[in-house]
Amino acid sequence: MDSTNSTNGSAGASSRFEEIMRGFRERSQTALDSKKVYELRKMYLDSKAGIVSSLMKQMRSIPAAEKAEYGRQVNQLKTWILDNLASMDQKAREEELRARYESEKIDITIPGKKILRGNLHPDTQVRNQMIDAFAGMGFEIYEGAEIENDYYNFTALNTPKDHPARDMQDTFYLSNDFLLRTQTSSGQIHVMESHKPPIKILSPGRVFRSDDDATHSPMFSQMEGLVVDRGITLCDLQGMLDEFVQKLFGAGTRTRLRPSYFPFTEPSVEVDVSCFQCGGKGCRLCKGTGWIEILGAGVVNRKVLENCGIDSDVYSGFAFGIGIERVAMLKYGINNIKLLFESDLRTLGQIND
Ligand code: DAH
Repeated sequence: MDSTNSTNGSAGASSRFEEIMRGFRERSQTALDSKKVYELRKMYLDSKAGIVSSLMKQMRSIPAAEKAEYGRQVNQLKTWILDNLASMDQKAREEELRARYESEKIDITIPGKKILRGNLHPDTQVRNQMIDAFAGMGFEIYEGAEIENDYYNFTALNTPKDHPARDMQDTFYLSNDFLLRTQTSSGQIHVMESHKPPIKILSPGRVFRSDDDATHSPMFSQMEGLVVDRGITLCDLQGMLDEFVQKLFGAGTRTRLRPSYFPFTEPSVEVDVSCFQCGGKGCRLCKGTGWIEILGAGVVNRKVLENCGIDSDVYSGFAFGIGIERVAMLKYGINNIKLLFESDLRTLGQIND
């Protein structure tokens, strides 16, 4: 082997190494993520096509005397590239992890999304308030049926056919005998037929009348009350109502009874409460009178007790009926009953007692 060649071979090889190193350094500048580092590793170290591997393959053309040195230098280069790749890979992975943490970071100071909370329908609120007020006085709930026959809705309540009081309520008849109940008072008869005194019930429910304007709807709700026992008088009614209205409209609310007429009570009264808006001074709500009419009531007519097989010489009772929408409208300042039935959440959502 000739020495010039060998020197040339060595010098050629070392400049080739330097060039490879320069090329590697240059490429390292842009290999900032682990995928690029991997590609760089393939480019230099792939066992078939890698740049370093091709240097190994050139071993054949290296003069025998220089083979060892050449081999050592290739290995050195390989180690140098490996070291560099390892630190580049570590840096890239750290950076990727940091970026991932950053992108997945949760900012716990961001205000939460507002969740819309529903509320009970004003009718339900008022009904519950009424039940709460009476439940404390020992009343039980009786839920009657919406379809009744003529007997329970009228006749047994001392309102036989041709009785003028039938004109007070425009009835939806389903047949000659069946109808949509016009009043929860029909429940009184069912309860008195099936229970012996003492009786103390509340009966909330839907009622129906052919009536339709700003303050009347063909379907509305009432709450009936009935107490039957020995020695019940109008005084008991007033005492109980006083407590009821204070719970419903606030402490200090007073009641006033005015004579009225209902076939199923004798005497019958119309009950007013002192205006809960102005306290009785007179305002728009109470039309300047200081009083608001809220329910009908009275001492249960003897004939009604007898119709249900209750001895009217031993027992007496009082009853009352109150319109739930009417109270809701008064309490929440609603001027059209339809607003309660249109299910518009912009209206109903504002009423949350
Ligand atoms: N049922 C009557 C109505 O719908 C209200 C009523 C008045 C009920 C007097 C009663 C009562 O229990 O005693 O107009």
